[in-house]
Amino acid sequence: MSSINPKAEQVTAEVISNKKIGAYHHMVFAVEGLALSARPGNFVAISVGGPSSSMVLRRAFAIYRSSDRGSAGGLIELVVAPHGQGSKWLTSRQVHETVDMVGPLGTSFGIPTEPVRTILVGGGYGSAPLFGLAEILKARGCRVDMVLGASTAGKIYAPLDGKRSVSSMTITTDDGSAGISGRVSDALPQIITENESELIYSCGPMAMLEAIQTIADKYQLVHQASVEESMACGIGVCMTCVVPLRGEDGVVRMSRTCIDGPVMDGSRVIWNSQRSIPQETWGF
Ligand SMILES: Cc1cc2nc3c(=O)[nH]c(=O)nc-3n(C[C@H](O)[C@H](O)[C@H](O)COP(=O)(O)OP(=O)(O)OC[C@H]3O[C@@H](n4cnc5c(N)ncnc54)[C@H](O)[C@@H]3O)c2cc1C
Ligand code: FES
Repeated sequence: MSSINPKAEQVTAEVISNKKIGAYHHMVFAVEGLALSARPGNFVAISVGGPSSSMVLRRAFAIYRSSDRGSAGGLIELVVAPHGQGSKWLTSRQVHETVDMVGPLGTSFGIPTEPVRTILVGGGYGSAPLFGLAEILKARGCRVDMVLGASTAGKIYAPLDGKRSVSSMTITTDDGSAGISGRVSDALPQIITENESELIYSCGPMAMLEAIQTIADKYQLVHQASVEESMACGIGVCMTCVVPLRGEDGVVRMSRTCIDGPVMDGSRVIWNSQRSIPQETWGF
């Protein structure tokens, strides 16, 4: 039985910096020990709107990067798209204001023990957890090819310092305003073939993850997908975030992406369920 990440803690996190970059806000928070236990793929759940807000549900954000600054304490960085009321409230926080944060939550990306040839694929703000992952993979001697896609150029988050950790960077946009015109899944086959990729990491919208799994199946690659299904509680209580997942025993169960994920083995997710419960699911 899965349970909440045992390293999770609730902290009062101070905003250290908040910069608008394209369609996103890059935000840095002082979080002390939480930073030490965070791994690429983990997320945090932040209380939004202040103490008297009607927005009772926390909002989930992938950890972009975490670092330990010695006596200055630990820092985590997030990349936030001001989307609805909660994320707009968060991105309007000023330096030195505080927010209530729980983390690190969820599963993290598995890191190979031997150098392998990896390809990291992000859609929109889904690129957030991939840069911290790229740094670790590079340090392990892995080849790291990154492919980032979005609807338009302003929605690509690809910071200059992040590019240092990758062997190659390919951009795709649906409207052709930057990089290759089309979707990440259009660009992937050629990159996989050229670089003899062995392992795919991905994060982004469900349709993108499904398309990547189809390619992973075709090229027989392992695919670790960060499944960012809508979450209400973020800690395994409400069952809002479930997706059908085939277990090692072959049985399909509705699994909570907040505690069994967000990082999941892409080959085990039943991608085409269209948010309904497949008939073969245990207990259906
Ligand atoms: C694991 C994970 C990582 C994410 N990482 C990032 C990131 O790095 N950057 C980023 O910009 N965004 C990220 N998101 C998306 C982000 O959480 C949402 O954009 C955010 O919650 C929007 O909040 P809002 O108030 O602005 O939007 P609104 O649309 O007003 O509110 C959305 C909120 O409604 C609630 N909700 C949604 N569906 C249901 C439901 N079926 N039942 C009950 N309540 C529901 C949830 O609390 C949700 O957060 C991530 C999401 C997940 C799950
Ligand atoms: S979000 Fe509540 S169980 Fe996953």
